[in-house]
Amino acid sequence: MRRRLFVTTALPYANGPFHIGHIMEYIQADIWVRFQRMQGHEVHFIGADDAHGAPIMLAAEKAGKSPEQFIAEIAKGRKQYLDGFHIAFDNWHSTHSKENTELSQDIYRKLDKAGLVYKEPIAQLFDPVKGMFLADRYIKGECPNCGAKDQYGDACENCGTVYSPTKLKNPYSTLSGAKPVLKSSEHYFFKLSDTKCKEFLREWTNESGRLQPQVANKAKEWLEGKGDKTLADWDISRDPPYFGIRIPGIKEEKYLYVWLDAPIGYFASLKNYCDRRRIAFDAFVKPGGGTEMIHFIGKDIIYFHTLFWPAMLQYSGYKTPDHVYVHGFITVSGDKMSKSRGTGIDPLRYLELGMNPEWLRYYIAAKLNANVEDIDFDPEDFLARVNSDLVGKYVNIASRAAGFISRHFNGELHQSPDVQRLAQAFGQTRDNGPLIRDAYEAREFGKAIRLAMQVADTINRYFDAAKPWELAKKDSRENREELHKACSACVRAFQYLTMWLKPVLPELAGKAETFLGCGSLSWTDALPDLQRIETYQHLMHRVDEKQLDALFEPPEKSAMTTPSPQPSPAAAGEGVISIDDFNKLDLRIAKIVKAEHVDGADKLLKLTLDTGNGTRTVFAGIKSAYDPAKLEGRLTVMVANLASRKMKFGVSEGMVLAASGDGPGLFLLSPDSGAQPGMKVK
Ligand code: 2FM
Ligand code: ZN
Repeated sequence: MRRRLFVTTALPYANGPFHIGHIMEYIQADIWVRFQRMQGHEVHFIGADDAHGAPIMLAAEKAGKSPEQFIAEIAKGRKQYLDGFHIAFDNWHSTHSKENTELSQDIYRKLDKAGLVYKEPIAQLFDPVKGMFLADRYIKGECPNCGAKDQYGDACENCGTVYSPTKLKNPYSTLSGAKPVLKSSEHYFFKLSDTKCKEFLREWTNESGRLQPQVANKAKEWLEGKGDKTLADWDISRDPPYFGIRIPGIKEEKYLYVWLDAPIGYFASLKNYCDRRRIAFDAFVKPGGGTEMIHFIGKDIIYFHTLFWPAMLQYSGYKTPDHVYVHGFITVSGDKMSKSRGTGIDPLRYLELGMNPEWLRYYIAAKLNANVEDIDFDPEDFLARVNSDLVGKYVNIASRAAGFISRHFNGELHQSPDVQRLAQAFGQTRDNGPLIRDAYEAREFGKAIRLAMQVADTINRYFDAAKPWELAKKDSRENREELHKACSACVRAFQYLTMWLKPVLPELAGKAETFLGCGSLSWTDALPDLQRIETYQHLMHRVDEKQLDALFEPPEKSAMTTPSPQPSPAAAGEGVISIDDFNKLDLRIAKIVKAEHVDGADKLLKLTLDTGNGTRTVFAGIKSAYDPAKLEGRLTVMVANLASRKMKFGVSEGMVLAASGDGPGLFLLSPDSGAQPGMKVK
C-alpha cells in the first residue's frame, strides 16, 4: 500500500538563526522522510517560521525594525542552513501569512460555534509606560518569601517559591522599568476542560501506536491530574499591542495567542504548497482523506501538540494528527562546553569551516532512537564514529575493492550467481536488510546504523581473509577468478550498504551510485545485478581534529587572525565589555534645533535633534539643569541606534548623553568645535 504522508517539524520562532537543536530535529525528520520516499511512499515535508507573539514584536522593536521586516530577514537566513545540511523540505512558509490568517480565523470561528469559547475579565499587570500587559517573564521584583532582588514574575530562583507576579514586592517592568499596575481586560478562553474534550483526548492519546509510551503517559498525567494539575481552560486571546492574527467577529482589537496560530501554520504552509502545486489540500486535513499527518517535535512542547492541537482540530472539523514523534534535546559534551568553550555548536560555523554536513547527519543518526532521550555531541566520539566507522568501514570497502576491479578487470564485475550469493551471505546482508528497514520505520536510527556497520565489518573481514593483494600477485587462472569474485562480491555488498545508508547520507550515496553505475537506489530486498563500476573517486574525507578544535573555539578567538596580547588583570574583571560590544553603540553628534517644556512632565525636556540625516525627537531628563532656550543651536552626543521608546508624552527616538555624579548637577556632553551633526563618535 502506497502511503501518503504529511510530515512536519516544529515551527521555529522567527527571532533568531537556527541552533544545533533545530538542525538535529530537521535531520531526524529528513532521514525518516527520505527513508519513506525510498519505500515508494508519497511524502510532503513541510516547515515554516513561527512569526507571531510578543517576544518577536519586542525583538523587532529593539532592532529598530517593523516586525514584518524583522521576520523577513530571519526567513532569508534559513536556506543556507537547510541546503547546507541537505534538509529537503518541500515547502517553507510563515505563520504570518494570508493562508494562516484565514485558517486560524476559520478554526477560531468553528470552535466558538461548537460552544468551546467563552470570555471572562482577567486582571493582569500592565506596564503604563509601554502601554502593554506584561507576561510573567517581563516582570521582576523582590521575592515575597525571601526578599531576593530581581526575581521573575513566576518563581524565585533563590528560594524556589512559586507565586503569581502580583505577589512580587517592588515589581518593575523589565521593558521600561516602570512600576506595573493591575488592570483588567476581557480574555477569550478555549474550554479544554469541557467533558467532551476530555473524553475525546482520553481516547486520542490512548490509541495504540499513536504516541510513544512516555508521551502518552505524560498526556494522561495532565488529563487525569488532580487539584492544581487539572486540565485548565486555555487563554487564547491577547490585547494590543501584539504581533498576531486578529480575533474575528468582535469589535475590540484582540489577537489570537501565538500558540493557537502556530500549529495552524503547519496547515498554512501545506496549503501554500498545495495551491502552488495544484494538489488538493483538503485530502490532507479533512477526515477520511487517506493521508497520514505526522509531527516531529521536541519534548518541551508535548502539551501543545497532544492536548490543545488535537482538540482544536477535532472540534473545528479537521482531521487530527496520526502521530506526534517526540525527541529529547541535544547537549554538547554534557553541556559543559557551553560555559567553558562558548556556545556549543554553531551550525553555520560548522559549515563555514568546511566540515562535511553528512558527518553530522551520520553522527546524529547513530545516536538517535525512538525514545524521548537527550543525546550528547561528544567531539571525541564524533571523530571516532565518522573516521573509524563511516569512512574506515563503509567507504573503505569501495576504495579497497575498486582498485583491483579497475586495474585487473577493466571495471567489469564478475557475473556468476556465486557473487550475488556471496554478497548476500556476508554476514547477514540478507537478514539485516529487513531489520534495518524496520529500525528506520520505528525511528531507531542508531540501531539501523549498528546493523549496517555489522555487515560492513563482515565484508572487511572477508576482504582481509581473501587477501586480494596476494591473489593479484600470483597470476594464475584460478587466482584471477577468485580475485574477481571476491572483489565483485565486496562491491555488490557495498551497494546494499549504500542503499541502507542513503536516507542518512544522500550526497555520499549519490556519489556511490555514480561509481556503481546503478542509477538512483530505492529500497529493495534484492538489488539487481551490477555490470561494471566507474573509476573510483574519493568518496569522503576523514574529520580533521583541527576542524573540531576550531568549531569549539570561542567566537572572539576564532575571529582573530593575529595572536592577541594577554588581557591585563583589569580587563578580565566582571562587567568588562569587548570592543565589539562597544562598537554596537552608534554614537553621533547631533544639533539641538529645538528644546521645549513638556506639559505635565517635571523632569523632561523635548528635544528636536538634527542628526545630519533628518531630525529626531528625544525626551531627555535634563529639565532641572537647563533652560530650553539656551540649548537651541548647541551640539551634543546622542545614541542613534537605541530602540524607540513609547513614553507617556510621545515616542523618544534616541538618547542624549549627560554626566552626573552623586551630588546635584547634570552636564550635557558637547564636542570640540568643528564637529558636525551626523559625525560618528568612537
Ligand atoms: O517552541 C517553539 O519553538 C515553537 N515556535 C514551536 C511551535 S510548533 C508549532 F506549533 F508551530
Ligand atoms: Zn525567594
